[in-house]
Amino acid sequence: MKILFATSNENKIAEAKVALGTLGHDVARLIIDGKSPNFIEPQADDIEVISKSKIDQSLELISGTKFEGCAILVEDSGLFIDGLGLFPGVYSSYVSRTIGNQGIINLLEKNPNRQAEYRAYSILYENGKYWNSMGKCSGQISTEIRGSNGFGFDPIFIPNSGDGRTFGEMLQSEKDAKSHRGESLRILCDHLRAPLK
Ligand code: IMP
Repeated sequence: MKILFATSNENKIAEAKVALGTLGHDVARLIIDGKSPNFIEPQADDIEVISKSKIDQSLELISGTKFEGCAILVEDSGLFIDGLGLFPGVYSSYVSRTIGNQGIINLLEKNPNRQAEYRAYSILYENGKYWNSMGKCSGQISTEIRGSNGFGFDPIFIPNSGDGRTFGEMLQSEKDAKSHRGESLRILCDHLRAPLK
């Protein structure tokens, strides 16, 4: 199935291409009038609420365009750090752009609790139906930046299910097998009928 992903984050698109591509789906970026949808994010501390708002806005935007009737995917995600009261959570994108990975390491400097969780909430709209899924990945925040793969917080996130490397030190396929996004997208695929070959 051809799936249009409504996001301006190229890294998310690359990851969705891997996760959904291996299951036979074809992912492309939703571009309207030359750009990705510019979502108005609601004041909410819940990625599910934000995701629902993104799908509503996407469907409104494609209404009356050639994309009406296409399968549309949205996702909201973030990093929730126990020792920081689940910060940055829904503010992850802003925090990543401002204080960045070194800023997070500095905030946790004297904190022995380095437990964190990545979460992704995805919604796929297809043919009048909505498919929702949550993916999670538990891990630890490293004491130093390691690796340059992935994006955002990947160079400081060590998944508990791994071998001690950060996501930044892993191949895309290794991250996908463990990540919140990979899990969330695989759950969506389980809901869908088998793709046509
Ligand atoms: P949003 O879902 O577009 O609001 O952005 C989520 C933000 O959370 C990203 O900009 C990153 O800062 C962070 N984030 C979410 N998923 C990941 C990931 O897989 N790797 C690294 N950072 C992530």
